[in-house]
Amino acid sequence: PDFIYLIPRLSIERWRFFIFEDVAMAVRHFLTLLDFSPTELMSVLTRAIELKKMRANGVIYEPFKGKVLAMIFEKSSTRTRVSFEAGMAQFGGSAIFLSPRDTQLGRGEPVEDSARVISRMTDIVMIRTFAHDIIERFAAHSRVPVINGLTDDHHPCQILADLQTFLEHRGTLQGKTFAWIGDGNNMCNSYIHAAHQLGFQLKIACPYGFEPDPALLDQYKHCATLVKTAEDAAQGAHLIATDVWTSMGQEAEQSIRKRRFSTYQVNPRLMDFASPDALFMHCLPAHRGEEISEDMLDDPRAVVWDEAENRLHAQKALMEFLLTN
Ligand code: CP
Ligand code: NVA
Repeated sequence: PDFIYLIPRLSIERWRFFIFEDVAMAVRHFLTLLDFSPTELMSVLTRAIELKKMRANGVIYEPFKGKVLAMIFEKSSTRTRVSFEAGMAQFGGSAIFLSPRDTQLGRGEPVEDSARVISRMTDIVMIRTFAHDIIERFAAHSRVPVINGLTDDHHPCQILADLQTFLEHRGTLQGKTFAWIGDGNNMCNSYIHAAHQLGFQLKIACPYGFEPDPALLDQYKHCATLVKTAEDAAQGAHLIATDVWTSMGQEAEQSIRKRRFSTYQVNPRLMDFASPDALFMHCLPAHRGEEISEDMLDDPRAVVWDEAENRLHAQKALMEFLLTN
């Protein structure tokens, strides 16, 4: 059939096929960092750095005139929403914000049906949702690329921005040691994938009972190691990253988490265990006095504002890749 798009130079397993009205379609999605090869990830990061320079130089680049991004948010967002919407506008296209409160998604219309409809009217879709299988089901029924804007299990767009930031400040990822301190959550899982894909070591320190899935740790033991204390993880690291102790959807556990995580705060004293050129990142929003000290974001090793800005550039590069390759 006409609609079988096969591009031989891209490995076949990274394409997802679905049958829609007797037509087999092949579409690339970005649901986790494993959806792209290491070479593809590096090309997106290199392009993100380039797009950032172009914007700084006032270059107008509008390859997506008339293209529409649908953004489905089942959880709150500042950075993800603004960066995708601004990015699409800068590319000459437009974005639609959809929330379950005012769409039929919130009234029980199946994800599969929503995917069929939304992907017939738009060119690319970004979803922030709860269970990871929701985005997988959406992608399986979408005619257009689907991007993960955060699920309970992964936050790959944030990791693209973090990696871009590290590359801009320190030049290379290969052979570096990163430390993840705090909750073994969606960000931690995506960092594990990044370590595997891009050749760095990840040391993870979490309170007992809040570690990443043991199966994931076992699968990636060549690049990710669980250590006992925050100091063990920080020792000699080139990057220390953390995140909130209570992610969206876990609000009922907030007070117990505050107690259990109290020795996992990142502060300038902990940063002193790291390599002298270590950087600090946090995907934000941050809670000063909890996962970071009041003064952590003012420390010269913190690069969180560059990291937040890079959401824009990294996701523009990602959308360009998905819409033009
Ligand atoms: N880091 C991040 O995803 O931020 P938002 O929740 O504001 O989108
Ligand atoms: N782990 C956090 C990240 C927020 C950007 C959450 O899922 O709420």
